[in-house]
Amino acid sequence: MSQVEIFEVGPRDGLQNEKRLIPAAEKIALVDVLSQAGFRRIEVTSFVPPKWVPQMADAAEVMAGITRRPGIRYAVLTPNLRGYQAARAAGADEVAIFASASEGFSRANLNASIAESLERLAPVAQAARADGIALRGYVSVVTDCPFEGKVAPASVARLAARLRDMGCYEISLGETLGQARPEAIDAMLAAVLDELPPESLAGHYHDTAGRALENIDASLARGLRVFDAAVGGLGGCPYAPGAAGNVATEKLAAHLALRGHATGLDMALIEQAAAMARTMKGAE
Ligand code: HMG
Ligand code: MG
Repeated sequence: MSQVEIFEVGPRDGLQNEKRLIPAAEKIALVDVLSQAGFRRIEVTSFVPPKWVPQMADAAEVMAGITRRPGIRYAVLTPNLRGYQAARAAGADEVAIFASASEGFSRANLNASIAESLERLAPVAQAARADGIALRGYVSVVTDCPFEGKVAPASVARLAARLRDMGCYEISLGETLGQARPEAIDAMLAAVLDELPPESLAGHYHDTAGRALENIDASLARGLRVFDAAVGGLGGCPYAPGAAGNVATEKLAAHLALRGHATGLDMALIEQAAAMARTMKGAE
C-alpha cells in the first residue's frame, strides 16, 4: 500500500464560513478529537482581522485551549506580519501564507493585487525562516476564478514557484470554487510540475460540484501524495460566493483505502469528528 497524507483543514477552512458564531469550546473539542485520529498536520485556525472573517476572531483562545499531541504540527493561516506575530505568540508550529492566481480573487480575498500581496507576505516568510517555523503556501483559484473565469495554468505555476522561492516547503493548490473537471486539474498540474516536484505539492479541492475525488485521482496519477480535506465536508471561502466545503475527510479516506492508499487514520475517530462537524454546521 502506498502512503497518502490527508492534511486536516476543517477547523480553519471548514469553520471560517459558518454563519453561526461557533463557541471556541466546540472548536477546541473538534481539534482534540482530530488530534487522536492519526493526522500529522492539522490547520487549526487563522489570524485574520475579525472584521474580515468574524468566525476566526477566537484564534488565540482556540490555540490556547487545544490539547497538543506530540508529533502533530498545529498550523494556522496568516495574511500578514501582524497575523504571523499573533500566530507565534499562540504557539503555532507552522504557518500558511496564501495568494491568488487571479487578480480578481486577490482583490476580493486579500484587498490587494497579486504583486502587493506577495510584498506583504515577504516579511512573514523572512520571519518564519528566522524563527525556524515551517511555512506552507496556498495558491487559490487554480483553475476557475469567480470574477474572471478560467485561470491560465501558467499563472498558477508562476505563483507556486514564487511561493517556493519565498521558502514555502509545500504549496497547496486551491481549487477554491469546487467546480473544476479532472482535465482542468490535469492541465494545471502539468504546468506546475514543470516548476516543482510532486513531493512539494498538495491538492486542496473544494467539492461544490461533487468532482473533488475525481480531481484527486487525476492528481494521484500526477504523483501528488498530500491532500487537504475537512471533516464533515465543512466550509468554503467567504470570498468565493456559492463555493462549498473541502472534500470531506471521511469520504476521501474511504476512497483512498479502496484504491490501495493508506492514510493511517482511525476511521471511527474520523466519523466521530465528522459527526461533531455536521452538528456545528447544522446549528447555523
Ligand atoms: P485590509 O483591510 O486591507 O488590511 O485587509 P489593513 O492592514 O488595512 O487592516 C484592516 C484592519 O484589520 C485594521 O484594523 C488592522 O489593524 C486589522 P482597523 O484599523 O480597521 O480597526 N488587522 C488585523 N487584525 C487582526 N489580525 C490581523 C490583522 N491585520 C490587520 N492579522 C488583509 C488585508 C490581508 C488583512 C485581509 O484582506 C485579510 O485578512 N484577508 C483574508 C481573508 C480570509 O481570511 N479569507 C479566507 C481564508 S483564504 C481561503 O479560504 C482560501 C484557501 O482555503 C485556499 C483555497 O481554497 O483557495 C486558503
Ligand atoms: Mg479552501
